[in-house]
Amino acid sequence: MAVREVIIYPDPILRNKNTEVTTFDEDLKKLTDDMFDTMYEFEGIGLAGPQIAVNKRIVVIDIPDDEGNQHKNQLVIINPKITKLEGDIVESQEGCLSVPGYQDTVTRYQRCTVEYQNLQGEHCVFDNVDGLFAICLQHEIDHLEGKIFVDKLSRLKRERLHKKYAKILKDRQRGE
Ligand code: CO
Repeated sequence: MAVREVIIYPDPILRNKNTEVTTFDEDLKKLTDDMFDTMYEFEGIGLAGPQIAVNKRIVVIDIPDDEGNQHKNQLVIINPKITKLEGDIVESQEGCLSVPGYQDTVTRYQRCTVEYQNLQGEHCVFDNVDGLFAICLQHEIDHLEGKIFVDKLSRLKRERLHKKYAKILKDRQRGE
């Protein structure tokens, strides 16, 4: 188990095509263990393969419980496909481990249905889920399509992001 380097926006790795997983073996399990380690290290609730430079259709999610505790609901989601988006369009305050130091409001569907495979390769479904989990699923599956939440911002907001983010990146580099 190991913490991997997180790929930071606007790195083109985040825009690469992500391929389907076809082999469900011990290496895949190790990779997802690393993804959880990396996600916890940087205090995230979800992480997608391209965020650690693995351009494969893999997502891990761990939504905290009511007390804010993680490690109880680890989900490994392989080859996910959104099959339904339903309900109202809701605003959500989002951040991303690949866009450190920046949060903003974007819109998502309230509910979604996602077909996926688990670590054993079995076909499973999250049926009409809602709340933070539904939003997180949409955010992470966007990563597998090369999309980042800041792509959803209006032009005005994106200009503001680029100004603010340039400073954030500079401060990060100085810190390294
Ligand atoms: Co993200």
